[in-house]
Amino acid sequence: MSHEIAIVLAAGKGTRMRSSLPKVLHPLAGRPMITWPLEALREAQLRECILVLGEEAQPIEELVRSRYGEEVRFAQQKVPRGTGDAVRCALPALDERSGYALILYGDCPLVQATSLRCLLELAQESGSDLAMLTSRLSQPKGYGRILRDAQGNILSVREERDCSPEQAVIQEVNPGIYAVELSFLRREIERLSPSNAQQELYLTDLVERAACGRGVSSFEVDIDEVRGVNDRYELALAERLLQRRWLQHWARQGVTLHDPDSISLEAEVVLETDVVLEARVTLRGRCVLGQGCRIDVGAVLDNVVVEAGAYVKPYTVAQDCVIGAGAQVGPFSHLRPGTVLGAQSHVGNFVELKNTRLGEGSKANHLAYLGDGEVGRGVNIGAGTIFCNYDGSQKHRTVLEDECFIGSDSQLVAPVRIGRGAYVATGTTVTGDVPAQALAISRTPQANKEGYASKLRERLRKKS
Ligand code: UD1
Ligand code: CA
Repeated sequence: MSHEIAIVLAAGKGTRMRSSLPKVLHPLAGRPMITWPLEALREAQLRECILVLGEEAQPIEELVRSRYGEEVRFAQQKVPRGTGDAVRCALPALDERSGYALILYGDCPLVQATSLRCLLELAQESGSDLAMLTSRLSQPKGYGRILRDAQGNILSVREERDCSPEQAVIQEVNPGIYAVELSFLRREIERLSPSNAQQELYLTDLVERAACGRGVSSFEVDIDEVRGVNDRYELALAERLLQRRWLQHWARQGVTLHDPDSISLEAEVVLETDVVLEARVTLRGRCVLGQGCRIDVGAVLDNVVVEAGAYVKPYTVAQDCVIGAGAQVGPFSHLRPGTVLGAQSHVGNFVELKNTRLGEGSKANHLAYLGDGEVGRGVNIGAGTIFCNYDGSQKHRTVLEDECFIGSDSQLVAPVRIGRGAYVATGTTVTGDVPAQALAISRTPQANKEGYASKLRERLRKKS
């Protein structure tokens, strides 16, 4: 019986990232980079994996343990002496098992499960010592080049720094994903030598060994599936490629996209049919967008549920909240964590909500701060209303029962309750509860001084 196992290498220093964070922990489309190859392995049904880590093992190990539990075991390479040496460090964890091991690098986040599966099957069917993916790149900088004989058989992989000028122009490259027969691997890994420009033990030297033995089999994949991430530009490019993949997926599921290259979304986002995403929309975390809702230009939603038919207008910013069915929000609204907007409610420009529920059909259309509130159905909140929720040490709640009306420029000093159907007159500072159906008014009475305006003007003119 053959045992399927994967070895993932992530013990390198990641120097080219110029970062205090280990390379494989850099966030990529909302998740640490190392999770991408691990997810692909999981999807390819490879349930056993050995991750080789170096000096900075601890934070990586914690993250991987919390996400993958027993599926991933760890090996350590104390000093990064090359990819061949890293694999050597993983071998004791393989015990006596036979068959093929899939070997890949932790900095190759774009690889997909189908290619991994196909590679293993190719190795098993061909019986070669080593099977590998290949790819093509017009500017192959940084990758090992693939050398073939006149019949097209793979002879070896030559690292860029060890290439002659003729070899350096070869556009066929090594993505660094292999299936290697285990007895061959155990034998040949001990014979690697550091006689190369970097004085490292290169895993790629196994290709030449296999070519002299039971052969190398291979198939080509699109470079966009196997781009390695060595620096932060390549990280940014990998993110763009992942996003393009998802945008393509969602478009095929019935989502309309305007200017897709300007839209940014993360892995956990879920979009239902007839969702419309306008240009420059950003969807982070676990956003779930219901049927037919429209997210207009420049909106930034982080972990937001938008129910069917809602319309999020331009430049709305929302985090950890729910936007109810058919609701309208924006432009320029700010929904902070804990906001829940009821069905058909309206929130307009320069309105900020935090930890507040707005009942069905209620409206706050202009310039308001609604913090720590409970607003019933059919409530109208006028421009300039403020829930004064903070007394300098504690937060308090404001409760507005169904169908009440809050006039413009009112301050509701919490804790306070406005009864059902009550009316708060414009400019009122409410400091005590208002009974149902009552009118609350607190204003300095207005005085008109006849003719005073022209007198005042005259006086001011003389002064200047
Ligand atoms: C490697 C390949 C190259 C291939 C390219 C694809 C080798 C010698 N070269 O080059 O042919 O085209 O990937 O992206 O394999 N690592 C360790 N221990 C070490 C050194 C590296 O675990 O001592 C790990 C790194 O963390 C990384 C991976 O191996 O995840 C690849 O190492 P890296 O230095 O990035 O190799 P490349 O120069 O990209
Ligand atoms: Ca690399």
